[in-house]
Amino acid sequence: MGTRLTVPAVRARKVRAGGEPLVMLTAYDAPGARLATEAGVDMLLVGDSVAMAVLGYRDTLSVTIDDMVHHTAAVARGEPDALVVADLPWLSYHVSARDTICNAARLVRAGAEAVKLEGGTRRVPMIEALTAAEIPVMGHIGLTPQSVHAMGGFRVQGRTPEAAVEIAESAKALEHAGCFAIVLEGVPADVAAIVTGAVDVPTIGIGAGPDCDGQVLVFHDVLGLQSDLQPKFVRRYADLAAEAVDALARFAADVRSGAFPSAQESYGMAAEQEPRALGATAGAALGLCAR
Ligand code: KIV
Repeated sequence: MGTRLTVPAVRARKVRAGGEPLVMLTAYDAPGARLATEAGVDMLLVGDSVAMAVLGYRDTLSVTIDDMVHHTAAVARGEPDALVVADLPWLSYHVSARDTICNAARLVRAGAEAVKLEGGTRRVPMIEALTAAEIPVMGHIGLTPQSVHAMGGFRVQGRTPEAAVEIAESAKALEHAGCFAIVLEGVPADVAAIVTGAVDVPTIGIGAGPDCDGQVLVFHDVLGLQSDLQPKFVRRYADLAAEAVDALARFAADVRSGAFPSAQESYGMAAEQEPRALGATAGAALGLCAR
């Protein structure tokens, strides 16, 4: 078990100031939160990637605030020894400051210590409203999956000088609005390095190269629990999908052959009961059933 990080401690963790890189992993349920905590991660992100990783959707747009509250509460019940950040899903922070604060408050009451939202300069009013309500906000710029249709697909962002400057300006705007950290997703490594150098809050990269102040990956990607899509930036540290299929196939084979359950895996009658009494009772029961 590590020392539990707070929002101010995360805000102060810049690598250039000698801080150790931040480790963030997504978590969607209590067992996942416990495993990640045991592994010593600093932050758990209840990401709206729950849409694809767990709920079977093609993108994050179908996830609702109710879904996010449900999964945030499950992660919190795992009592993780890590800072819990929950994603505000699409349209939960776009309509009004009132809606944004109420939705974020639901995540906080479910167990989140901070919320994350996607988008650059245009999100400043909502970030200011949230921080004024004492709700810490993590920003998220670059490839923002909730903008999949506006971006024309899941595309690396910031590849032209103009686009790179826009990302850097967004990072500065988010910092000034009060974000305590900023996720940089799907941007060239050079752009991430410039942005990281330009802001005093930590950047947390995903597909953004090595020069960020931390890295985040999706739990299921790290463990090899989903095999359909593997983006270039994912490093798999296990192939649990293959192990799981093997284990489940052996269970199925044991059931079919009668090898499971064994006597050791079965319950007996209470010790004081005579086997003969059981026979008599069973006989009576069978007699009743036959009538
Ligand atoms: O939902 C998520 O998993 C995320 C990470 C990719 C940063 O937002």
